[in-house]
Amino acid sequence: MTGRPRTPIAVLVSGSGSNLQSILDASTGAGYAAEVVVVISDRPGVRGLQRAADAGVPAVVVAWGDYPDRDAFTMAVCDVAADHGAEGLILAGFMRILAPSALDRFPGRVVNIHPALLPAFPGAHGVAEAIAYGVKVSGVTVHFVDAEVDHGPIILQEPVPVRPDDTEETLHARIQQVEHRVYPEVVAAFAAGRLRIEGRHVQWEGT
Ligand code: GRF
Repeated sequence: MTGRPRTPIAVLVSGSGSNLQSILDASTGAGYAAEVVVVISDRPGVRGLQRAADAGVPAVVVAWGDYPDRDAFTMAVCDVAADHGAEGLILAGFMRILAPSALDRFPGRVVNIHPALLPAFPGAHGVAEAIAYGVKVSGVTVHFVDAEVDHGPIILQEPVPVRPDDTEETLHARIQQVEHRVYPEVVAAFAAGRLRIEGRHVQWEGT
């Protein structure tokens, strides 16, 4: 590959890792601005770890239960990321809340994807809660992480219509189709230094 060196990133997962896969697939393309240097999971045995191994990327378990508190767990996650040279943390279905110290270690460099249009339906059950509420439109939010859960400056949102017969599974499946398209794009923009945070607003620079 020619051109600029790629920005090393860590991807944090807790489960299937389909978003991780979309980033890994994109990163095989010439000129992609990010390189996944490590995948970190808070639990063993998840498919995301296998996806990393299949792609030849180091896969590390930092088990939640091995640490006395959130601060110690967060420090361990950040240490693994830093030891592999990561310059950003990309949360992709990571089901643990990192302590604020992660933001000190990676300021403006922690990104999350959420399966709803924030600030609606934050938390771990955003898809089910959107259906239960009866919204006609939900969607995908990609945002920088701040000290509050599912709250930081929004980088990108894309709506997904809710169908009358949708279940959590069917809606989440369509949301994930969007996630797999937009998350690699956002990660590339982040890695290329094209995202500028101004308070709660994120400006996309360049084309
Ligand atoms: C995604 O829908 C993401 O929005 C949410 O968790 C899910 C993770 O899916 N935070 P996967 O592990 O990437 O398949």
